[in-house]
Parts: sequence; C-alpha cells; structure tokens
Amino acid sequence: MRKITHQTPQKQDNVVVTTSHNASKEAVEMAKNLSQEFKIPYYNRRHVSERIKSGELDFYYVVDNTLQLSIHTDKGRLFFHPGISKIRMENYKREKKDFILEALRPTSEDVVYDATFGLGMDAVFIAHFVKEVVGTEFSEHIYRVVSYGLKTYVSKEDWINEAIKKIVLYNEDMKEFIRKQPDKIFDIVYCDPMFENPVYESSALNPLRPLASYDTIDTQTIQEMIRIAKKRVVLKTLDKDRILERLDIKFDRVIVSKKNGLVFACIDLD
Ligand SMILES: C[S@@+](CC[C@H](N)C(=O)[O-])C[C@H]1O[C@@H](n2cnc3c(N)ncnc32)[C@H](O)[C@@H]1O
Repeated sequence: MRKITHQTPQKQDNVVVTTSHNASKEAVEMAKNLSQEFKIPYYNRRHVSERIKSGELDFYYVVDNTLQLSIHTDKGRLFFHPGISKIRMENYKREKKDFILEALRPTSEDVVYDATFGLGMDAVFIAHFVKEVVGTEFSEHIYRVVSYGLKTYVSKEDWINEAIKKIVLYNEDMKEFIRKQPDKIFDIVYCDPMFENPVYESSALNPLRPLASYDTIDTQTIQEMIRIAKKRVVLKTLDKDRILERLDIKFDRVIVSKKNGLVFACIDLD
C-alpha cells in the first residue's frame, strides 16, 4: 500500500464509503451523508469485497451499526478509540510516573499544541491535565476518522469524556499551521512524528501507517516551534532513530524510557 509522503503531491485515492454487512438503516444513512461530506462515492458493502479483491480500491471507510467510523486497509482497521489513554491513566495512578508528563510538565492552565495528532492517544491523556489541546493532522483520512470519533465517542470514564471536550483538531500541515501563529501563542508544543525505525509490535499505530504523512522534522521547524511556545517544546522520538543528531538544536533534557526506547527531547523556555 502506498505511503502518503509530504514531498510529492497526493494522488487521488481509490476509496469509497460503505457500511458493515447487514447494515441498519441508520448506518446506511450515515454512510451516505459522510460520502457527500468527504466527496467520495458510497458503495453498497456487497460491491466493495469484489473491488478490493480486484485491487480497484486502495482502502475503504466503513460505518458500522453502532455508527462508528473506521478505515479498512490491508494493515488493519483504523478507528478512534482512547483505550490506550485509559491504560496509561491507570499506570500513572499506580506508578505516579509517566514519561509524557515528566517531559511536558503540564499545568491545568496550559494550552498545548500537538503538532502530529495521529489517533490522539497522547492528546486525550494530556488534555486531562491541561486547559486545552490544539492539534494538527496532515492526513485527511486520519483526520476524518479521528475528528468523527472525537465528536461521537462516549466513554464510560468521565475523565475521557471531559478530556475530549478540551481538544480542537485541524486537518493541516503543522509547518503551515505554525507559520501562521503569533509568537508564544501556546504554552507547550509537542511533536511526535512517524518514527524512522518503527516498532511494529506497537500494533495500535499499525493501521495508521499506510495513511500517515512521513514528514521529516528539521532544525527550522523546531526553531519555529520554539517561537510559538511560552514554556516548552517536546519532541518524541526513538533511541534508535537519528533525528536528534541531525538537528542543530540544544535540548535541555532528554528523557529515555529503557523499557521501550522512547525518547522525549525537551527545550525548556521557562
Ligand atoms: C506517530 S503518529 C502520532 C501519534 C500520536 N501522538 C498519538 O498519540 O496517536 C504521527 C502523526 O503525525 C502526522 N503528521 C506527519 N507529518 C505531519 C505534518 N507535517 N503535519 C501534521 N501532521 C503530520 C502523521 O500523519 C501521523 O498521523
């Protein structure tokens, strides 16, 4: 499956909206509405399977009978689900420690910019501790599924419902978004680009990979992030990736998780 890269113009995807098998009337109606909103065709589910087999479709959106929206790719099903944030909160409560919190040092008054929103697994957790999270996601497909999820998802956990309400998400390239922002507009800027040497066991992100943007972070982008941040810029990477070596930036703290090799490189401005 094709990767959406940033440098080349995006080709028009062969993609449709459909429902799950034995769809309810509501699911069909929702799928038809979304097909108009996304400006991509609606197909009856019966006709999708043949077209997938013949390679005519790259991937497809599905509205199921619970009205959840997902994208089916050959790498799995992409949908919004803040389950990982829930596990993370339980770990944090038990261990009184979390690498993102250690890196971001958030307060309840902070407005955080999450430049690479993805599935929002980090953002939902962060949002619990701050006033607002503003996110950008470059991939229109990931954006559609995640913003639909943010609007419709109802958790049994109150803190997740409250956290979701604090999130604003835009379908934009972070570099263009940042350029438009005034100096020091956000308290904290957080950036978690796609890893150079991905950990494939991390299955939560696997369905996202074929749809994601693989933009590289350069020194100028980090300098722009510093310009729009009041307190902190945090870049997440992997210890086996070489991104920090390539950047001409002095990081004040570099936090490394020995367990999974995650690195949080922090520039403290306060
Ligand atoms: C590693 S994932 C982020 C995962 C996220 N932190 C989470 O918790 O779900 C990186 C995301 O950044 C997006 N991305 C890459 N380059 C971008 C850019 N220039 N602007 C906005 N989003 C970008 C990718 O499409 C992908 O969804």
